[in-house]
Amino acid sequence: MNQAVILAGGQGKRMRAPIPKPMFCVLGEPMLEWVIKACEEAELSRICVVTGYEAQVITDYLGGRCETAFQPERLGTGDAVRRAIPFLQKNLDGNTLVLCGDAPFIDSQTIEESLACHMAEQNAVTVITASVEQPCGYGRILRTNKGISGIVEEKDATDEQRKITEINSGCYWFCTKDLIDLLGQITNNNAQQEYYLTDTIAIALQNGLRAGAFCSENPDVVLGANDRQGLLKLNTAARMAVLHQHMTNGVGFTCTDGIIIERSVQIDAGTEILPGTILRGNTVIGENCVIGPNCVIENTTVGDRVRLNTVQAYDSQIDSDVSVGPFVHIRPNSHICSGATIGDFVEIKNTTVGSKTAIAHLAYLGDSDIGKGVNIGCGCVTVNFDGIKKSRCVIGDHAFVGCNTNLIAPVTLGKECYTAAGSTITTDVPDYALAIDRGVLHIKEGYTLRKFAKKKK
Ligand code: UD1
Ligand code: CA
Repeated sequence: MNQAVILAGGQGKRMRAPIPKPMFCVLGEPMLEWVIKACEEAELSRICVVTGYEAQVITDYLGGRCETAFQPERLGTGDAVRRAIPFLQKNLDGNTLVLCGDAPFIDSQTIEESLACHMAEQNAVTVITASVEQPCGYGRILRTNKGISGIVEEKDATDEQRKITEINSGCYWFCTKDLIDLLGQITNNNAQQEYYLTDTIAIALQNGLRAGAFCSENPDVVLGANDRQGLLKLNTAARMAVLHQHMTNGVGFTCTDGIIIERSVQIDAGTEILPGTILRGNTVIGENCVIGPNCVIENTTVGDRVRLNTVQAYDSQIDSDVSVGPFVHIRPNSHICSGATIGDFVEIKNTTVGSKTAIAHLAYLGDSDIGKGVNIGCGCVTVNFDGIKKSRCVIGDHAFVGCNTNLIAPVTLGKECYTAAGSTITTDVPDYALAIDRGVLHIKEGYTLRKFAKKKK
């Protein structure tokens, strides 16, 4: 069975943050996640991640999803793979793919095609390479007329070798049994005094084994991030690739400024995304919607013909023909049913808003079940928290909740009832009733004339 080893022990000093470099995110997912997904898509289910610097961050993230091996000191990529030998020994048949956790754009197609080449050529090792315009910083592929002869790192290369533009992606297929032999022969006799995995190519050839190179047509497979500038470049490349895919699918963008759409998001044709919109996680958006400007939508399902303008929505469901915004916060576990209208400065939390219900402005609705065709007046508040526990409010179909009503939970308003503006409702209101809670209004005629007359004296 074929398997994969992902190297993720490095620190990434130039990132200047105490997390392992492969945990920095590209389009909301750690680079390591991109690499794992590429392996999974290529049906490599047996995966070992080699950790080192701040290993706990990675083991916590993986939560047992892959095996791990620990590299106590950063002694180089060859040393890192050695740490996975116990993992390799459990499955010596077949081939092992070694990848770098800081080069997220390796794809399943490249993995599969390079494996086919590796097997067809019966190589002990096949390195995935790419030709790039700026090879600076990468290992260079050395070739003779017999094919690949080795890899030289930038720091060990001669001026002549530095001109080579075919570079090492950091991904390799090894015949697993040969890999274990080759790892035993690597030394740290080089500029960085590290155990270079790249030396396995020349060592294999010296041992009379076959070594090959698979040159990827997609130069992005090599792209890695060594610093924040590099990470921004990866994010930009990934971001634009996602936007182009959506455009191909019929999603419209008049201007892509500030639009970030994670890979996991689905959008149907005819929908328009406006600037400043961030779509994250398991968000699904239907057709002919207008989303934006300035929305953050996370793990939320949105129906068709929905209008979201300056809305933040998390872990919720918004059905078709709903209009929300501007300046609305939909917090987790909310369900906005079809045809509802939610206007400016409204917060909704853990609440169902029935179909065709209107909440035009300035309201807080938390832990509530609101029926259909309800009108929630300006300034209404569900008082759902008494300082100790939270309780629910229920509002019946077609109720009319007057402006500035406070509903002290738990409380139920019946169907087609009214509450008078300014009322604080502490008991249930029956169907078709009017609830009024107001103090007696006193009018004191001539009050200010008297008050200021005194002052003037
Ligand atoms: C490596 C290759 C280089 C290639 C480049 C592609 C070597 C010697 N060089 O260089 O030829 O062009 O990748 O990106 O292999 N890591 C560990 N433990 C270590 C050292 C590294 O786990 O002791 C991990 C890092 O977290 C990283 C990966 O191995 O994910 C690559 O290490 P890095 O230091 O970035 O290697 P490069 O210098 O980029
Ligand atoms: Ca690197």
